[in-house]
Amino acid sequence: MKGIILAGGAGSRLYPLTLVASKQLQPVYDKPMIYHPLTTLIEGGIREICLISTPHDLPRFQQLLGDGSRMGISIEYREQAKPEGIAQAFLIAESFIGADSVALILGDNIFYGSNSFGPAFEDFTTGATIFGYHVNDPERYGVVEFDASGKAISIEEKPAVPKSHFAVPGLYIYDNEVVGITKNSKPSARGELEITAVNVEYLNRGTLRVEKLNRGFAWLDAGTSTSLHEASAYVQTIETRTGIKIGCPEEASFRSGFLTITQLAEIAKTMPNCEYRSYLEGVVKEANQIE
Ligand code: TTP
Repeated sequence: MKGIILAGGAGSRLYPLTLVASKQLQPVYDKPMIYHPLTTLIEGGIREICLISTPHDLPRFQQLLGDGSRMGISIEYREQAKPEGIAQAFLIAESFIGADSVALILGDNIFYGSNSFGPAFEDFTTGATIFGYHVNDPERYGVVEFDASGKAISIEEKPAVPKSHFAVPGLYIYDNEVVGITKNSKPSARGELEITAVNVEYLNRGTLRVEKLNRGFAWLDAGTSTSLHEASAYVQTIETRTGIKIGCPEEASFRSGFLTITQLAEIAKTMPNCEYRSYLEGVVKEANQIE
């Protein structure tokens, strides 16, 4: 399975922070926001990644992540000239996807908790898998309605009157049909190729799975100054209490088998003396003790 991180958009709600650096490059406590979705894909066992952003911001992502080899993965880059919808990612990355299945994650989505996505990635064969997360303000998102047996029966984009409290977070897993489905979909009234339209097509075909994320799981959105600050505080609280970092791609690559202990130790050595390096050295030390 291939992975796409969509990290374009205007980031207008974070102005003036986003005048120089895009939303997904802003710090969430101790790391750039993009480290979080990147880590989620790596934890899902994905090693081939395509990052899509604006022509203006793409060079800075390349500066930050390079070709991915420092993290045991490969990263390709593609431009989205204008924010014409989340589903446009499948058209921009068509040659990258090739004949594979693909997971798309939004560059400003932060997930943390038990291994809720693991089985969804591991067991995926055909169709589409998306998730449902109970939120206070479903009208801001795509909203899933379930029947009494827990089966998804409708999905609506930003409904004025939501049929449930279950929003669809920005992680979607599709088989290769997604490219053709997107090509056949028309831009919405707001001029975007809607990811909800793609999900509705899979629902109509009877091949959509919507998995409810459990209560203890955190899905944070960092699109406003307040939510960005809250996400930072959340990450700081958990990291300080546990001594374990959230959103550390090098560690995730090691745990997914993409980097050996020796490679991880070498990568840590290339970093300046800092807390992040000490953390990775701690991961290496602990792993060596277990071996
Ligand atoms: P939004 O938060 O809806 O939009 P935005 O990032 O442009 O922010 P603002 O509303 O403050 O202007 O987008 C959700 C995510 O999807 C975000 O990471 C940007 C990304 N995105 C794209 O990269 N391209 C697109 O065409 C769209 C619609 C979203």
